Order: sequence, then C-alpha cells, then structure tokens
Amino acid sequence: MKGLITICSFLLVGILTAYYIGFGFQEQPKPRAIDKELEGLNEKYLLRFSHVVAENTPKGLAASMFAQLVREKTDGWVEVQVFPNAMLYEAQDEFDALMRNDIHIIAPALSEVSVLDRKWLVMDLPYVFQNEQMVEAAFNGRIGELLFESIGDYGLHGIAFWDNGFKQFTNNIRPVVEPEDIKGLSVRVMPSEALVDTYRVLDAKPRLFSFNEVYNVLSTGIVDGTENTLSNIYSKGFYRQQKYMTVSNHNYLGYAVLMNSNFFHTLPVDYQNSIIEAMNEVTMWLREHSKVINDEMLYRIENSGQLEIHYQTESEKKIWRQALKPIYDKYGQIIGDELMKEVIKLQGK
Ligand code: SIN
Repeated sequence: MKGLITICSFLLVGILTAYYIGFGFQEQPKPRAIDKELEGLNEKYLLRFSHVVAENTPKGLAASMFAQLVREKTDGWVEVQVFPNAMLYEAQDEFDALMRNDIHIIAPALSEVSVLDRKWLVMDLPYVFQNEQMVEAAFNGRIGELLFESIGDYGLHGIAFWDNGFKQFTNNIRPVVEPEDIKGLSVRVMPSEALVDTYRVLDAKPRLFSFNEVYNVLSTGIVDGTENTLSNIYSKGFYRQQKYMTVSNHNYLGYAVLMNSNFFHTLPVDYQNSIIEAMNEVTMWLREHSKVINDEMLYRIENSGQLEIHYQTESEKKIWRQALKPIYDKYGQIIGDELMKEVIKLQGK
C-alpha cells in the first residue's frame, strides 16, 4: 500500500511538472511592485531599442522621441537607449536578440515580421492601400488586432504600428512606366515572400540584401534597382546611386513596435503604463508627421536633379494591379480568409 502511495505521488508530481514546463503554462509573469523610495540606482531599468535606419527618418525620430518621453514619464527610472543604423543587429537578427533579452524593443518593417509569421504578408500585397487613411484604418482596426494576436503566439508583444510611407521604385537602367519595363532588372527587396514573388511575376530578379547593404549593392551595380520610401532613399543616399525613380506608392512601409512579452509583463505596472502612454503619443506624432517628412524628402530629391522621375498615373496603376493579380491569388490563401475579408472590406469603403 505504502509503495502504491509513493508511486502515485511521483506520478502526480510528474504530471504537474510536465504540464507546467512542457505543455505551455500560460500565466503571464508577475510584474514587480515598485517602491521608488526603496530602490537604489541599480534598480533603474535600461531598455535597449535597436533599429536599422538613420536618425533623421520617421522611425529614427520617433525612437528618440519615445526615449525622451519614457524618461520624463518615469522620472528617469526607465532609460531607453536607442541604437540606430543597425549598430547592434540587422533586421532579421533583431527577433532572436529580443527573445534573448539582449535588446528590449524593436521596430522592424512589417515585411521583416512576415518571415516569422506569414499572416503579415497581407501588408505586402501590391497596391493593397491606396492612401494613408486606408493604412491607418488597417493599423487601428481589425487587421492590426489580428496581426498582433497572431504575433503573440511567437512570444512577442506588439505595442504599436508606426508609419514610414509608401514605397517608390528606383533603378539605373531605364524609366519604369509599364510593367514590361521592369523585366530583367535585378532588384533589392526585403525578405518577404510576397515582395520576392511580386518581382518574379514581373520577370524581374529579386535579390535579398539587408538594409545596410543597399547603398553598396546599388553603387557597385550588384543590383540595378530597389524600392523604398522617400525618406530612406534620401537619408541613405540611394538617390545618388540611381538614375530613374517611379513614384508608384505600390506598397506601404510600416513598422511593428515589438517587445518580448515575458519581459514586458515583468516590468512594474506603472512603468508598463508609462511605456504605453509614451508609445501612443509618439505614434500619433508619427502619423501626423511621416507624410510631411517623406514629402520634404521628395522635394529634396526633385531638387537634387539626380534622378529622372516618373509619377505613376491612376490608369497606369490599374495596369500594374492587373499584372500583379497572381500575388493576390497565391497569398490570399496563405494569409487566410479572416484577414483577406478585412482587406476586401477596407478596399470596398
Ligand atoms: C527600415 O525602414 O526599417 C528598413 C527598410 C528596408 O530594409 O528597406
């Protein structure tokens, strides 16, 4: 009898341990209580924020502003240290670094997130958004909710969508007006399946290079062209290495601001709230200013006289949309009905 009780006790402890460790015990880690009077200097929180762009871009400016607001709102108890220009990590390496707690906040392009979670490919469908209002409706509506829910399964906590702007196409070979003009050109793209296939469908040659390699691959002729926002094209000097630009607004470059979920939930609740408050203020600022920043960069590029610029017309856009329909056919299934229905709803408005 005693033996039986011992065996049963072992079994019970084993089952509970397996449940806790192996079968995903879902409880959030407990936040720490704060008593500022009792805390020493070494109790300050240092959050490392890594991103890959220049400081004078929408994301670069927003990250600095966020750091300042968090410092103010927490009386300096939370310090956000910003590392721009991929000083610490390239975009794809940021995810692992975040999970290891080497860094604490990242703001990768939505296309970079799609490598981890294919539902995010929805944001890379060509011409999916016609203007900034549609992008905002996607970020603030059901599409944004579904994307953040989905990325939660990877241990990531989405705290905001940040804007940059619409992407334009640049190259060194010829003006790109019709879809046929892009045939045979080698083009640097971010590592999103939908972006890669967009160029394949057009018989171009998509090539994957990290953001910090773009200037080099353009200037050495390793690729003929690339796509990016006006602020990135200007701040990184890509426009000086290209002859032609098509202002096409064919995709939107936005960012997901992400934290490691476990890390975020172990911060004292007051600090979590301050971080969210600061993030909301910066997100609003960015929404109002990202277009202004990109417009200013267009003005500077136009005045540099470095590029021959073609502004895509509405009737040309129609032809491009038709040429790129196979991307919707293929990726609609991968993205799934729930998100695609929201896209159709948004486009119908
Ligand atoms: C970024 O804006 O974060 C980088 C975009 C790119 O890789 O082209």
